[in-house]
Amino acid sequence: MDFNQPTEDNLFDRARIIGKPHARIDGILKVTGRAPYAYERHDVVANQKVGYPLCATIANGRVTHMDASAARGAPGVVSVVTTLEIEPLGRAKSNDARLFGGDVIEHYHQAIAVVVADTLEQARSATALIKVSYEEAPGVFDLEAAWERLQGTGEPLADVGDVDAAFAAAPVTVDEIYRTASQSHAMMEPHASIVDWSDGQQMTVWTSNQMIAWTHKALATTFNIEPDTIRLESPYVGGGFGGKLWLRADAVLAALGSRACGHPVKLALPRPMVFNNTTHRSGTIQRLRIAANAQGKITAFDHSAVSHTLPGGSGENPVNQTRTFYAAESRRVSHQAIDMNLPESADMRAPGEASGLAALEIAMDEMAEKLGMDPVEFRILNDTQVDPEDASKPFSERHFVECLRQGADAFGWEARNRTPGAMREGQWLIGHGMAGAYRGALTLNSGARVRLQGGRLIVETDMTDIGTGSYTIIAQTAAETMGLELADVEVRLGNSDYPVSSGSGGQFGAASATAGVYAACLALQALIAKRLNLDTPRFENRRVVADATDLALADILDGEELVAEDTMHFGDFQDSMQMGTFAAHFVEVAVHAHTGETRVRRMLAACDAGRILNPITARSQVLGGMTMGVGAALMEGLTADLERGFFVNHDLASYEVAVHADIPQQEIIFLDTADAASTPLKAKGVGELGICGVPAAVANAIYNATGVRLREYPMTLDRMI
Ligand code: MOS
Repeated sequence: MDFNQPTEDNLFDRARIIGKPHARIDGILKVTGRAPYAYERHDVVANQKVGYPLCATIANGRVTHMDASAARGAPGVVSVVTTLEIEPLGRAKSNDARLFGGDVIEHYHQAIAVVVADTLEQARSATALIKVSYEEAPGVFDLEAAWERLQGTGEPLADVGDVDAAFAAAPVTVDEIYRTASQSHAMMEPHASIVDWSDGQQMTVWTSNQMIAWTHKALATTFNIEPDTIRLESPYVGGGFGGKLWLRADAVLAALGSRACGHPVKLALPRPMVFNNTTHRSGTIQRLRIAANAQGKITAFDHSAVSHTLPGGSGENPVNQTRTFYAAESRRVSHQAIDMNLPESADMRAPGEASGLAALEIAMDEMAEKLGMDPVEFRILNDTQVDPEDASKPFSERHFVECLRQGADAFGWEARNRTPGAMREGQWLIGHGMAGAYRGALTLNSGARVRLQGGRLIVETDMTDIGTGSYTIIAQTAAETMGLELADVEVRLGNSDYPVSSGSGGQFGAASATAGVYAACLALQALIAKRLNLDTPRFENRRVVADATDLALADILDGEELVAEDTMHFGDFQDSMQMGTFAAHFVEVAVHAHTGETRVRRMLAACDAGRILNPITARSQVLGGMTMGVGAALMEGLTADLERGFFVNHDLASYEVAVHADIPQQEIIFLDTADAASTPLKAKGVGELGICGVPAAVANAIYNATGVRLREYPMTLDRMI
């Protein structure tokens, strides 16, 4: 089905099930431990052996020699595969770093061997018996030094109007440097796979992955085998955040181990290797200049940034939101991804947007203060309804101003402390801050298959549920479209035997995958109409109704199954507009007057993200994003060892993340909006919107509490002094 123009009034505007708060249909399975995660597939995979990785302890260079003889003779060990025994594996487009094979080391903790044994303990202890010799080459690990060398020399991504003239003429300007930290996904479930490649022919992979079709293809490329010899299952994922968009070493090592020993092999990356073997969000250094006239209208933005990447990667580009968030006649933005020898940086929740807004929304606060304006009013004044770089491109829907107004009202913004450092409760300084948020609303083509069996409907798509609620919103979509109840629908996800969907990423999953399920349901309706010889039947109350016909869906099939499949193709018309989601974040903090310890006391987000398919699961997404944003603001930062080129705080004891107890009160308001240009359901995603802007709102609240303006994340108490 083609989606070629904005949707007219349709059944989702009078929805029974879509848009209503339904608890997760997979919730009971999860809380009773019966949802099978990759590492736990004892149910379907017999005779498993356990793999354990050995990873490189240099960041750049070559492995010159490996002696695995002692490991091979260790108790319980059935196979050892070293990188020197394997030709360099193919490199999928999504993997900047090589995953295994050959002698070249491109980053610290690159996998160099896998030991397979009867038990985890046997495999782990045997890895310590492998002797490795390296030829180490110097590496580049220091982003700060690279920034000093390179700042301002990058080609602009956009250069509109006369930026220099605007700054020369402006009565008020801001010009500051901001630093965001490298961050780890720190998902609960590590990268984990069981692979059965015991005959070296057919490969079955039970894994934890966000993108089935990408990873299926990556496996074929990596091992240079036919795609139809590979099956992939990832029905439950214990968190992803972008770290599981790609094939990683867990599945590769398990596959090689399985082929070597002739058994299925399971392998979970130990936590330190999740940090240094897989991907992370690159830190950024950003210079942001804003020029405004005396009335508070922004006349120019100038935003340049660096981040780091392995050769071939794109780093963390934080300047894109500056191109389209606020009106201004001139703007220049540039980003340089600097080749460095640190572990591979790649997408993490709101890749680029989260880091860029962490800087931009502090700079906006600084500008509002210089102008003597309320930061909410300042943003309202500089709102735009068209792409500021191309006035012929409108936003499909943009209700950022309503987010600001409703959020300010609900938060009690008017009653806030207006003078930095002037509100105190005992030893705690109290402050209020806010920030805007903006994340694009991408859609990707998405397919599904539906099977009508009596009165039951089964939906199959390779879409994943990474804790987001995909199972539930897909069941809601199918039930709504077919006139069924939620309990009539069974959803099967995360399997390469199912039609290719958008997968879970870039906050495009919910909107895209439900559109694909809608398309498949319409195809099923057409089959039913044809079979019953009906013109334009309606599907309601579990029945198919037309003129003289009124039949229960359960009765039309006579015991057989009716199967329909389709893919929603999103048309080019979406390129003629800007499509985004928006939010206003408000935060109250208390900062200890003597220690500088910051506690978030309450947060509120007002969000504009099109039709909210399920307010419970959407709210959870925004809550999670906000919590992660607090982590980015106050705690999370990977510290690189500048001599050895790895992240030192590579575990959850030394890399701290925000948890429930860190934020006593969070409130979320969804504006009642719908975006007819986005999908037939008029929905957009929220999974990445929730983290955008939050770090800056916390930073602005800290400033309001203390009068100390911090421009470097995380804002730990040592930076307060
Ligand atoms: Mo997201 S960073 O595309 O999982």
